[in-house]
Amino acid sequence: MAVRRDTIWERFLKPIFQLFLIDEDKLLQLYKSIDWEKESDRFRQPNLTYPEYYSSQNFHGIQGGYLNGDAPVTYDPITQYVLPPNETWVRQGVIEAIEGQPRRILDLGCGTGSTTLMLKQAFPEAEVIGIDLSPYMLIMADRKARQAGLEIQWQHGKAEDTKFLNASFDVVSASLLFHETPPKVARAILREAFRLLVPGGQVIILDGNQKTLLHTDWLTDIFEEPYIKDYAAGSVDAWMGAAGFEAVRTQEIWWVHQVTRGIKPTPVEDSSIATPQIEETSDTILVPVG
Ligand SMILES: C[S@@+](CC[C@H](N)C(=O)[O-])C[C@H]1O[C@@H](n2cnc3c(N)ncnc32)[C@H](O)[C@@H]1O
Repeated sequence: MAVRRDTIWERFLKPIFQLFLIDEDKLLQLYKSIDWEKESDRFRQPNLTYPEYYSSQNFHGIQGGYLNGDAPVTYDPITQYVLPPNETWVRQGVIEAIEGQPRRILDLGCGTGSTTLMLKQAFPEAEVIGIDLSPYMLIMADRKARQAGLEIQWQHGKAEDTKFLNASFDVVSASLLFHETPPKVARAILREAFRLLVPGGQVIILDGNQKTLLHTDWLTDIFEEPYIKDYAAGSVDAWMGAAGFEAVRTQEIWWVHQVTRGIKPTPVEDSSIATPQIEETSDTILVPVG
């Protein structure tokens, strides 16, 4: 696997593997058991151009970022230890923020699908779609969904330009995506979420707690995350408001995480267009008045 030796792999991730007795041989076997290029062709959109901010960076010490098989193989074993106090509990924050029974849900930057699977489990009647820029991450997401017997659609594409129809989703979510994108992309993603949602639809964003990250350099330094400092200096609340969302509210989860929820407003009827009032007469014939 093409993991750089001078990065946090040596300094941080490898010790984590050792500390938590993650079986590296087992991961290597899994890596070797998949024909990454052939499998990724099942998802790959040949006309998709990767944004420069994405294809030019290493993330988490993985050379080539998410565009290889190393990322999906190492992502879940490590993520379980970097979302304290408990990965499932943190992700559950997305599910709990959703009100009502959505019929169509889109999970942006779905990665290996951990939150996407939970969304489908929580709303089994809903059509659930996960979209990600990495066809390699989608291979792992699809394997996990099949193993869990869940029907989820996986789409290779950009969260900021999904190509789905206007007003075609009740919920749009993103977990752990915004700290990995420059703020201007995060804002573009929120504008896209606004376009995709039906009026009254909900956007839910789970990520690192910006207030905490801003004051804890050691946390932002420990992972190889090229955009996390810019993310920490921003405000998902403000970005959501600027995208047009209302009732925006952020809830802290265990000091280091936050879930932000916003609603796409329902258009107010224009009162200047007079609708004829109907009055019931004594002989019950309805006649317009005024
Ligand atoms: C830290 S992972 C989070 C994955 C998953 N949502 C989770 O909660 O574990 C970030 C994911 O976002 C994807 N990604 C980054 N920028 C993206 C973009 N503009 N559009 C779609 N996916 C993107 C990456 O390929 C990666 O799979």
